[in-house]
Amino acid sequence: MTSADLLIAHASQLCAIPASNGGPQRGARLGDLGLIKDGALAVQAGHIVAVGPTAELRAQFSAAREIDATGRAVIPGLVDPHTHVVWAGDRSGEFEMRVAGKTYMEIMAAGGGIMSTVRATRAASLDELVAQTQPRLARMLAHGTTTAEAKTGYGLETAAELKMLEAIHRLQAEQPVELVPTFLGAHAVPAEYKDRPDAYVDLLVNEMLPTFSPLTTHHSPLFCDVFCEDGAFTLEQTRRILTRAKELGFGLKIHVDEFKPLGGSRLGVELGATSVDHFVTTPPDEVKAVAESDVIAVSLPGTPFGLGHTAYSPARLLLEHGGALALATDCNPGTCWCESMQFVIALACRTLRLTPAQALAAATINAAFAVGRGDTVGSLQVGKQADIVILDVPDYRHLGYRFGTNLVYTVIKRGQVVVDSCQEPALSETKGLNLRKSKLEASYESA
Ligand code: NIG
Ligand code: FE
Repeated sequence: MTSADLLIAHASQLCAIPASNGGPQRGARLGDLGLIKDGALAVQAGHIVAVGPTAELRAQFSAAREIDATGRAVIPGLVDPHTHVVWAGDRSGEFEMRVAGKTYMEIMAAGGGIMSTVRATRAASLDELVAQTQPRLARMLAHGTTTAEAKTGYGLETAAELKMLEAIHRLQAEQPVELVPTFLGAHAVPAEYKDRPDAYVDLLVNEMLPTFSPLTTHHSPLFCDVFCEDGAFTLEQTRRILTRAKELGFGLKIHVDEFKPLGGSRLGVELGATSVDHFVTTPPDEVKAVAESDVIAVSLPGTPFGLGHTAYSPARLLLEHGGALALATDCNPGTCWCESMQFVIALACRTLRLTPAQALAAATINAAFAVGRGDTVGSLQVGKQADIVILDVPDYRHLGYRFGTNLVYTVIKRGQVVVDSCQEPALSETKGLNLRKSKLEASYESA
């Protein structure tokens, strides 16, 4: 018998969601869950050491702790590869303005929008910024997110961008969600540079990027991102910033085609970006170019939903051309205050026409590759971190099908239980399980 710290046994479905040839699941391969019925998983020293049928693992391992997952589906911890979760202030008033007819970019042009959060974030102390962000990360974790990207971009001056990076590092030390920092100094042209945007691009290229470069600072954001959009940064400014960022060792991300297509998707392909994000109004030839490249398209369906728009990412076209798709919340105070990848999966099934299996793979293994962590998180495979979610439902397809409630039962990060039966026991769907068991098994047997 081999000893293990933890054995999770009798999962009604264990969804391993493996990488595909060492990379994201692309095109028609998206949705390979590697599903094991009556599945089990063994953990030792924070890592997965075995995955397989319960009977096999039982015979092989003696575990210090066992979790009985009878009647529950087990999936990898969800990965949220695009968030602006660190911010200060409140923009609920802008939501009301948008409902009354103002557009997001009109509010931004009038000095609200991103700049409103910039003012509040600049004014906040590091402690305040950390304190305001902490509950959002706690909600992400409670909803099953164990790794999340976190962008700067509400400082837009060296000191305040540094404060945001410090907040990310503090939050990393204080709570379980693993954070992947991205420098987004090019989120908006700050008010003080309104009439001379190229001078702000100079500041980014000559001062901020070298200061925050992964090659020169222990704060080391992994990625550099630019909001490429009319009213934010032009295609040429985006190219200039990202070309310099690449020289300085950053991975690249771009906010592309959220409202108006400027050619950002093609630029992402040209520069070898890790991901192009939003990807809503992308013209078909650029969708094809992204699909045929190594760039991952990160769709954020919560954002058009949050804005009350009806256009969503051309996900099916991307997949038809063999592309790699990931999903993220975009959690931010303007367009989409949503911490739940479960809700994003539900939206993706309806608006991008993904199956629950495709959406789940896009929210785990592909999302992990979109933040450069495909080798350590995003799937339940031997050697990976033991980042695991036990759902309070017997079939993974409840993700997608259901929305607006939390289906998570237990969250495990690096082998440690960090959310335990967070729902009231009275609400647990599997409580009356013995009564319903034969019926439930019949339903997933027929699947
Ligand atoms: O991804 N589009 C730019 N950035 C965010 C919104 C940020 C904000 O409004 O504060 C987005 O939607
Ligand atoms: Fe964003």
